[in-house]
Amino acid sequence: MFYKIALDGPSGAGKSTLAKKIAQGLNIVYVDTGALYRSIGLYMKNNGVSPDEAEGVIAALPSVSLQMKFENGKQEIYLCGEAVGDSIRTPEISMYASKVSAIPEVRTFLLDTQRDIAKTTSVIMDGRDIGTVIFPDADVKIFLTASLEARARRRTEELAQKGIHEPYEKVLAEMKERDQNDSSRKVAPAVAAKDAILLDNSDLDLEGTYQKALEIIRSRISL
Ligand code: DC
Repeated sequence: MFYKIALDGPSGAGKSTLAKKIAQGLNIVYVDTGALYRSIGLYMKNNGVSPDEAEGVIAALPSVSLQMKFENGKQEIYLCGEAVGDSIRTPEISMYASKVSAIPEVRTFLLDTQRDIAKTTSVIMDGRDIGTVIFPDADVKIFLTASLEARARRRTEELAQKGIHEPYEKVLAEMKERDQNDSSRKVAPAVAAKDAILLDNSDLDLEGTYQKALEIIRSRISL
């Protein structure tokens, strides 16, 4: 039987790094759902659609063709036939993604893409509403979090490694704004499922976080 691990939490908590490590360790597929919202954000930007105007975004949705593929265990999204690569990782697209993700029609549009993957393989899926909306029946639900300052510091370093040099204060302010958007929106707000296990890694490094997560997973699934 296939199993599902839901990994939710705010931006910059380290979900993707942790999820990749777990996926490798358990030999399962890692699905990054934020990349789907980012790709929709990219589409809107490329086509001059304001993410602040829901009607325009909804009207553009039928023209969005998204495909998620896994190549050598790595996820790639094809937007209208073209691989998006790192173009969805800029701060501008982060803001687009946060805004379009608050539109219910966008979330519905992405529902099946997310659910279908888990029909053919075991997955660890990271996002904001995996344990609450996408897989309320997930075998394990982890809500990974860290202080706003720790998350902004990590995100600043991560961007710098990609050659994007943003001041810490700017990253912190943008993260605060996104946190606010993501957790206060009406549909699928980024909150922990009632049965999720909270993991705060403000004072843990990746290995420490990984070991704690494995403990949680082993307490729910016999591996
Ligand atoms: O995880 P991320 O930073 O790549 O996500 C980008 C945006 O997409 C984030 O601001 C919130 C949104 N998102 C969402 O609403 N639901 C998800 N399952 C994943 C991401």
